[in-house]
Formats: sequence, C-alpha cells, structure tokens
Amino acid sequence: MSEQRPLIIVSNRGPVTYDRDAEGTRIERRGGGGLVTALRGLREDHDVTWIASATTDEDRVVAAEGGGEVVFVAHDPLAYDLYYNVVANPMLWFIQHSLWGPAFNPTIDHAFNDAWCDGYVAINRAFAEAVVAQLDNSPDAAVFFHDYHLYLAPRMVREARPDAKLAHFVHIPWPVDWTTLPEEMRRALHNGLLANDVVAFHTARWARNFKRSCTDLACGVDRTFVTHHPISIDLAEFDALRESEEVLAAEATLDRAEKLIVRVDRTDPSKNIARGFRAFGILLDEHPEWRGRVKLLARLDPSRETIPEYVEYRAAIEAEAAAVSARYPGAVEVQVADNFPQSVAAYKQYDVLLVNAVYDGMNLVAKEGPLVNARDGVLVLSENAGAHEELGEWAVTVNPFDVWGQAEALHAALTMEPAERRRRAEAIQAQVRENDVAKWVQCLLADLDRVSA
Ligand code: F6P
Repeated sequence: MSEQRPLIIVSNRGPVTYDRDAEGTRIERRGGGGLVTALRGLREDHDVTWIASATTDEDRVVAAEGGGEVVFVAHDPLAYDLYYNVVANPMLWFIQHSLWGPAFNPTIDHAFNDAWCDGYVAINRAFAEAVVAQLDNSPDAAVFFHDYHLYLAPRMVREARPDAKLAHFVHIPWPVDWTTLPEEMRRALHNGLLANDVVAFHTARWARNFKRSCTDLACGVDRTFVTHHPISIDLAEFDALRESEEVLAAEATLDRAEKLIVRVDRTDPSKNIARGFRAFGILLDEHPEWRGRVKLLARLDPSRETIPEYVEYRAAIEAEAAAVSARYPGAVEVQVADNFPQSVAAYKQYDVLLVNAVYDGMNLVAKEGPLVNARDGVLVLSENAGAHEELGEWAVTVNPFDVWGQAEALHAALTMEPAERRRRAEAIQAQVRENDVAKWVQCLLADLDRVSA
C-alpha cells in the first residue's frame, strides 16, 4: 500500500452508527451494506475522514458533539425522507436496476418534483457543504463520493473548490436509457458526476453504459476519467468467520436435505427472489426425481421496509414461496432475518448457490459463498450481475427473466460431475483470493494518483 494520505469518504451510510441501550449507555454498531464493509479497511492505512448521514437520534447527538470518527450530517428529517424514500430509493434505484414497469410506474408528478428539490438537491447540498468545510481543514485531501445518493454533490463542491481532487464510485448498474427522468433531472445527475476527476464502476459494462448515456445527453465526458474496478471482500474477515463459534453453532442447526440450494439476499426487487422460487417449483415439476431430495434455503435480510414497493415485493416473495411449499411441503425454507453467521453457515453447506439478480452492480454473495463453501458447490449466476464479468466462465449462467432456463440451470448444477464442480469452485476461489478488497482500494488510489499527476 502507498503512503498515508488524507482522504474524505462521503457516503449516505457511515462505517458506524450509534444508539442507546436499555440502561441509556451509548452503543456503537457497525454500519450495514457492502460499500461500508469494503471501505472500512481504508481507515487502517490512511488519514480518513468519513462524512455520512446521521440515521439515528444518537448519531444526531454525536453530530452535535462534533469530533468522533465520523462527521455525521444531521439532515432535516423531512428532507431526508424525501431524498432516501422517494428519490434515491425507489426512483434512482429502480431506474438503475431496470425495475419499473413503465405502463404504470413511475409517475413524475408535483410531489416527485418537490421531493427532488426539497429532498435530493437539499441533502446533496448539505453533503457538499460538509465536504467543503472538511477541505478547509485539509485542502490536500482527495474526496471519494459513493453511490446514487450523491450524484449532485460533486458539482456543488467543484463550484466552491475548483482545484479539489474528486472521485466517485457508483456501486450499482448504470443503464444507457435515462429517459424515465425529465431531461433537466437526468442532465443534472450526469453533470454532477462529470464534475469528478474520476468516475468508477464495478464493471466494463456499467462504465461503457455511462459513456453512452453521457454521449446521448451531449454531456462532455472528456475531463473525467471513467474506469471500472470490481469490488471484492475482506479475505481475512471471511477466513476468521468460517470457523467462528457463531457460524459453527448455526451450522449445527442447519436443516439440509440430500442436496441444498442456497440464496442470500436483501429483500430487494432487484434480487429476483420471487422468480427464483418460481424456477425452483418448475425444477420439481419437471424433474420429479428431485422431489424430497433437494431443498431451497432462502436467507433474506429485510431491507428498506419504509418504501411501499419493498413492502409489496416482500409479499410477492412470501406468496411464491408459499405456492411451492403447497405443492412440495418442506422443499422451501425462508428465513427473514439479518443474521450474518447463519448466512455464512449456509454458504459453507450449499451444493448450489443461486444468484439470479435482475440487475446488480456487483453482488458480493457470488464471491462470499464460493470463498467459504466446503462442498465444491456450483454457482448459478445471472448474466446481469456485475460479478458475471469476473466469474461467469466458471458459473452456470442464467437469464434472470427466464424461469425455465433457471430451473434447467439448477438441474444442471445439481447433476454436475464432481471433478467439474471442483474445477469451477477452485477457479472461483482463486479469482476471489487474488482480487480481494485490498486490491480494489489500491486501484482506486492509483486512479487518484493518475489524475493528480
Ligand atoms: O451500493 C448499494 C448499497 O448502498 C450497498 O452498500 C448496500 O448493500 C445497500 O445498497 C444498502 O442499502 P441501504 O443503505 O438502503 O440499506
């Protein structure tokens, strides 16, 4: 790793969040999500200031106290609600994962316009002000923005500090077509991103799409270095977790059949959980030999439950799972809980790991599972998951909309010869081991060096 350098990381969620326990004592919890996990390591090697939204009352208290390892921005709660629950999720998330059904949704109405101005623009402005204040303390620091919550902030910072070094990592897919949003809004998002010196994505596909959508909007991309680096996982963390007491205990209670298919996801429509159950039902319909011999374990982490589209999707997941269970009792187990040791236990035990995302920026499950799996399990992987660019040649590829194809892919994975399974599992492990999260961080810093030179 290169020398210590001042970095300002800016993301909606911070690396930690605070609460009070029953006795009223402050407790610190680790922030959720792949982005935060991946970036935490940066703090060990560099002089990092992390700017994030205050998401709990106690975060607000910490913000008011000042200091601490995170600079929390205590937003107006109404503005935050509009920014997070209306514009970022679902609107931008749904556009970027191609989840809208345009005959009915979305509608850009007066309320959405207000959410844009009073929520998304206002919160981006608050983040930009916090960044500028940090740059006043540390003018040489490079600023690393993350994700779809913050597309406008870089331009605001650039206007205030023309010489700042700015980079933005977009962790989710980038579509070519942005016409769901009125021209002024889509132009603002692109121009916001193009105020960065570097804009990075997980895959060549998303980076290519970005250049195309910039061209379509006639937004000049020449001043910005557009690149891609696949995010990965912390190997040491998983190597330790694999043998941890909690994981071993969870493994001891895991109820498997002769063959076990596992999926691990947030309850997000982009993860394609409902179609996955449908495909599993088709597998049992079409291949009666598997009835009573194979089980699908879905470990689902509840997500964004304040957003109606997510509530609806959760009901759809439950309905599809119930439909399969009604035909084949005991064939499906759904566990809805945020319990990572149980997920790691399931990773260790699967014969097949199903990752059939509609679209996904990367999908770290496709890396975490194969790293700890102990059964030469087969990865069934969506062609639209970013991970497919790296791991596709050793996976069984599926189209996320084709449930028959997914059923046949599950059958192919379950019947694959042991030597072939091992060859593929070892190749995926080697790829993940050689390209861990430390390498991702090094690549990002090298980009910064390149633009600073
Ligand atoms: O990049 C997508 C992401 O921000 C990931 O970091 C994380 O897995 C997920 O979305 C979390 O979403 P939220 O912060 O809304 O829970």
